[in-house]
Amino acid sequence: MVQKVLEETRLTHSDDIIYVDVNTLKDFIKHVFINLEVPEGHAEIIADVLITSDLRGIDSHGIQRCKMYYDRIREGIYNPKTNITIIKDHLTTAVLDGNNGMGHVIAYLAMRLAIEKAKKYGLGAVAVRNSSHFGIAGYYSLMAINEGMIGFVTTNTRPAVPPTFGIEPMLGTNPLTYGAPTDEDFPFLIDCATSIIQRGKVEVYNRLHKQLPKGLIVSNNGNSKTDPDIILNKLLNRSAALLPLGGEGEDTSGHKGYGYATFSEILSSALQDGTYLKDTAGITENGQKRLKVGHFFLVINIQNFIPLERFKEITGNIMRGLRTSKKAPGKDNIYTAGEKEYYNEMDRRKIGIPLNKSIQKDIKIMQKELGLKNYNFPF
Ligand SMILES: NC(=O)c1ccc[n+]([C@@H]2O[C@H](COP(=O)([O-])OP(=O)(O)OC[C@H]3O[C@@H](n4cnc5c(N)ncnc54)[C@H](O)[C@@H]3O)[C@@H](O)[C@H]2O)c1
Repeated sequence: MVQKVLEETRLTHSDDIIYVDVNTLKDFIKHVFINLEVPEGHAEIIADVLITSDLRGIDSHGIQRCKMYYDRIREGIYNPKTNITIIKDHLTTAVLDGNNGMGHVIAYLAMRLAIEKAKKYGLGAVAVRNSSHFGIAGYYSLMAINEGMIGFVTTNTRPAVPPTFGIEPMLGTNPLTYGAPTDEDFPFLIDCATSIIQRGKVEVYNRLHKQLPKGLIVSNNGNSKTDPDIILNKLLNRSAALLPLGGEGEDTSGHKGYGYATFSEILSSALQDGTYLKDTAGITENGQKRLKVGHFFLVINIQNFIPLERFKEITGNIMRGLRTSKKAPGKDNIYTAGEKEYYNEMDRRKIGIPLNKSIQKDIKIMQKELGLKNYNFPF
């Protein structure tokens, strides 16, 4: 079963892959950020979010993204020293300003605040503005789950998705991430974009020189595109877009993904007076380019409704009910959200994190430029 899951999820597999031990890679990431003047405690948070992504098999948002953050700090787009301002604070709600700091740190601290509020008052909702890319939304939902609570997280992000019947990238790939504890070894955690494919996965295909399936991306002449290198360039000059969940037009219900992405955009900007739509592609402030996004975190304390153990029994029963239902012809397994990530984590803690040639090259560049000589990577 585990093997089957891993075979199905290993998009990363290619002949030039080298596996590196989790702790070594996490330590390396942490020291990259410390060398960029991120305080050590904050660098620890960033490294944990990135490595959790790789461990869970979400290769689009782990070490692959390290160089992007590295470049943005060096270009002055992100402030390495995160300084959060509390704009409003009520019993169950808060609005925070991330002041263009590191998104992972801002999101971690915002989620901690939402959890503390939910522990005391049953609910915690925190809206954040002037933040930056925070990696996998699921990391923050897991923080609530680990406290025996329900976690919901969303963020807006650079425009990539057109409205239904449009071709211009207007909305981000805006993930909507919901998680709940169960009585099983892993929780329910649906953690994904509101587009069919998100930008980071296009980057994974590009690093592996693989073509994308048809029907995921539309270009400004209405044609579907499959070459990831061309798509990434076209996304930058706004001549291609990632289709919303459901696909193009109304026939396969693209309007549903469009609607969910729009609501994420509302939660990520309107409650906190933050940036939205095209402004998330970058604005200039005092001569400095900024890439601002907003987030929204909601935590529900289950114990305010029902004893936690009974809740977990019910959610576990729902998961088992789904997995043991009748399978489609030729299919051996039905999964529940969060399950494959759990198997990946067990596997990667043993075998290490797979690094393709392109990521190896990024690591070498950062290692050389920062003088991080203590790491003897096998490449
Ligand atoms: N920060 C940002 O701006 C941003 C934007 C978009 C996406 N993301 C992140 O990117 C990551 C990947 O997103 P994605 O859209 O590529 O996700 P995806 O398409 O790989 O879907 C992943 C989700 O689907 C579940 N899943 C997979 N196969 C399943 C099956 N057969 N049955 C039931 N559930 C199944 C997984 O458990 C997981 O919850 C997420 O962590 C997301 O938060 C971040």
